[in-house]
Amino acid sequence: MDSRCYVLWLFVLTPAPLLVNTCNLSPPTLINRLPGRVTGLACQDLSGTITTTAQCVIHCLSQEGCSMVRIDCGGGRCRCSVCQGVEDIEDVTSATPLAEFYLLGSILLSNWTVPPAKYVHLPVPIVTGHVFRFVLNLGTKRSSIELMIGSQIAFYLQFRLNTGGIIRTWLLNNKWGQNEYEVPHKNFSPNSEVELIYIVSPVDYKVYVNSVFFFTFQHREPNLSRIDKIKFAAEGDSGRLKSFFMSTW
Ligand SMILES: *[C@@H]1O[C@H](CO)[C@@H](O)[C@H](O)[C@H]1NC(C)=O
Ligand SMILES: *[C@@H]1O[C@H](CO)[C@@H](O)[C@H](O)[C@H]1NC(C)=O
Repeated sequence: MDSRCYVLWLFVLTPAPLLVNTCNLSPPTLINRLPGRVTGLACQDLSGTITTTAQCVIHCLSQEGCSMVRIDCGGGRCRCSVCQGVEDIEDVTSATPLAEFYLLGSILLSNWTVPPAKYVHLPVPIVTGHVFRFVLNLGTKRSSIELMIGSQIAFYLQFRLNTGGIIRTWLLNNKWGQNEYEVPHKNFSPNSEVELIYIVSPVDYKVYVNSVFFFTFQHREPNLSRIDKIKFAAEGDSGRLKSFFMSTW
């Protein structure tokens, strides 16, 4: 771990994990309680040695590639597992969470007026298990999120407010792919706020909209580490990116 983050290590020993903000060059952000039942990727059970939430988080921070922590406390003891990422979120609307899940990563942009466009370079390559979380205000026309490789687009997602739907496609070798299109929710009204979660799996992105599993988008570019930036775009004079989080630890 980078030496600038040692401060975090010492401070986090007190039971206030959000002190991670003291490591302000590359602050991990703890997102508490992903909705539903979360399945971790390549988890290691540390229940024998770890007894508090803070210890569990510290263990993850110290471990290369760890980006998700699962803590299940009861009877004065906690069960801790540290994972390389997230595999799945099930029963998002109905499941009672049995444990708490913390994602380690960074908010890379917040409260940004999007139109016409904003680019954010990814601080680390995308790997399986990574989670992206976007909170958007959709504005009044169209807004999109594009995972880019140079000027090409590995995954293009656009909200179209005139139909209430979401279009997905890609642009590789200067050719657009076929549109994938569904309208499971027709309630994207102008200026509504939506939360989007992408979970990166080996074969696709699993996309959740407002905590409901919505669709998968198959990887069209298999080498995910080629994706170097994200473009946010919106038409008109409204549309706001409230928050963009990515697993980066
Ligand atoms: C977001 O940005 C707008 C415009 O820059 C500002 O007026 C508003 O106070 C900001 N909101 C928050 C929550 O920071
Ligand atoms: C994947 O892309 C990265 C970044 O462009 C590159 O360094 C790496 O060699 C590529 N890996 C493969 C297997 O092509």
